[in-house]
Amino acid sequence: MCGIVGYVGNRSCLPILIEGLKRLEYRGYDSAGIAVQQNGALLVRKAAGKVRVLEERVKDGKIVAHSGIAHTRWATHGAPNDINAHPHTDCSGKIAVVHNGIIENYGVLKSALLAEGHKFVTETDTEVLAHLIEKHVKRGLKLEQAVGAALRAVEGTYGIAVVSSDEPGVIVGARNGSPLVVGVADGEYFLASDVAPIVGHTRQVVYLDDGEMAVISPDGFHTATINHQPIDKPVHEVEWDLGQIEKGGYDHFMLKEIHDQPASVRDSMRGRLIVDEGLARLGGLNMTPEQMRDIKRIIILACGTSWHAGLIGEYMLEEHARIPVEVEYASEFRYRNPIVDQGTVVLVISQSGETLDTLAAMREARRKGARALGLVNVVGSTIARESDGGVYIHAGPEIGVASTKAFTSQVTVLALLTLVLGRQREMSVEDGLLLARALDAIPGKIERILQREADVDKIVQLYGGHDNFLYLGRGYNFPVALEGALKLKEISYIHAEGYPAAEMKHGPIALIDENMPVVFICTRDAAYDKVMSNMSEVRARKGRIIAIATEGDDAVKERADHVLYVPDTLTCLQPLLSVIPLQLLAYKVAVNRGCDVDQPRNLAKSVTVE
Ligand code: AGP
Repeated sequence: MCGIVGYVGNRSCLPILIEGLKRLEYRGYDSAGIAVQQNGALLVRKAAGKVRVLEERVKDGKIVAHSGIAHTRWATHGAPNDINAHPHTDCSGKIAVVHNGIIENYGVLKSALLAEGHKFVTETDTEVLAHLIEKHVKRGLKLEQAVGAALRAVEGTYGIAVVSSDEPGVIVGARNGSPLVVGVADGEYFLASDVAPIVGHTRQVVYLDDGEMAVISPDGFHTATINHQPIDKPVHEVEWDLGQIEKGGYDHFMLKEIHDQPASVRDSMRGRLIVDEGLARLGGLNMTPEQMRDIKRIIILACGTSWHAGLIGEYMLEEHARIPVEVEYASEFRYRNPIVDQGTVVLVISQSGETLDTLAAMREARRKGARALGLVNVVGSTIARESDGGVYIHAGPEIGVASTKAFTSQVTVLALLTLVLGRQREMSVEDGLLLARALDAIPGKIERILQREADVDKIVQLYGGHDNFLYLGRGYNFPVALEGALKLKEISYIHAEGYPAAEMKHGPIALIDENMPVVFICTRDAAYDKVMSNMSEVRARKGRIIAIATEGDDAVKERADHVLYVPDTLTCLQPLLSVIPLQLLAYKVAVNRGCDVDQPRNLAKSVTVE
């Protein structure tokens, strides 16, 4: 969950590395560092805290170099401080390494290296790599071969970049489990954890796969396996541009991405929704209509917000495509020896496409014979490349750690998939047309909700200081309750829980009193009356009620203290609307509490460790 960037070329590398780190900061932001090759030596600078702290430390003008590596950290081993910040060097100080991932056997390797006389100065697992590479360089190997030899002894995950003062202008990168891409430009080359630090310089990138390494230098780049088998890798064109990863005048990426949703939902449907025929077309599934009709069971694998989208997918696919669906926490699925039989398809939902729990669960399911379909946002990510087929959700770059537009695009694509599979089964043309027309109207309805953003402000003033919130919903709105609670938790650090509304009386109702704000998602659907009764149960215990209700519903005003209205739509699409006020509520409460909305504490955008 760290960010790596490297550069070699004719330009000064310092501003490129610092800017690159800032674009990767959503991956980890508790400390940062750089190592540059200058006048035959390595200059290493590190600092605990955000990249701007490091930036201050390198403002002394002493760094004039054309090649170097840099890192922004999300600590796993060793507290975030100046010493444990990356890069890590060997005993000679000639070799520097930056690493994203976890070296699982670092304890064993470290003991062996200590016994050979190596001196360790940090608490990290990564430092082992620097000393291992040193060991092989001392055996007379060139840096590339020494890195390969070191990595063949390593167990665990890594995306790394390595420099040595003995080989100026050479940077060696390698990956296993953590993403790494090469940026190819005219006479200059980049290495990075993802395309964000590169797209401002070039859109030509090479995605490395597990067990592969790349060497960049002013003369060019080459790729090979860590056993040094040369491999030819295709150069891809990145779709996104720099503008898309800027804040666009908003205070935070999260607020920009909330306001992106009318467009991002539209983009998720573009060229796929055939409104006039009540059909959808998803080209990348890589399955024939016969194969799709033979799907007996779907297992959805995901984590966090993607898991919440998966729950809504379960409801849609079961109700409208009549396919049995189970939604699994990817981290649990992998270790419980699941039953994966003939006809089972796993739907792997991930915004980043790099979440290790989800990736590992997908690999386990494929090992057991399941076909894996990815629902992914990041083009070229590992889940996208390793799955048997899938759909890019086209939400555009999502920088804010708290996922917003990826969620609504995931739900939109799940609705398209429901249309594809449903029309191959019992869904009628009429129902297909109904769903397609309703989907087509969603972006405009989200626009209307965003125009009423200020309605949330009063609720923030009244309850923004509370330390506990409860979110309740039924049916399709239960996952929305979970998502609303997660958004509030992860960016404002308030304890919040989402529950099926009916489940409240089996325990959580004990929490209710005049200090407990309770958010009810009670849009007009078959469960409406039941939710209204649950609301009365909370009211009877003086709970403060904030209701997300359907426009024109006056009855709810009698039971709720505050009402945020959303336009009406089909029940199965309601989550695309009812989640928007909850995203805004969480955002505004967090801003009100002075929290770092885009980089909440202890979190990172893509979780590439277990
Ligand atoms: C959501 O706001 C969080 N950032 C987190 O729960 C996230 O959804 C989870 O880590 C899964 O990430 P993915 O979709 O990239 O796999």
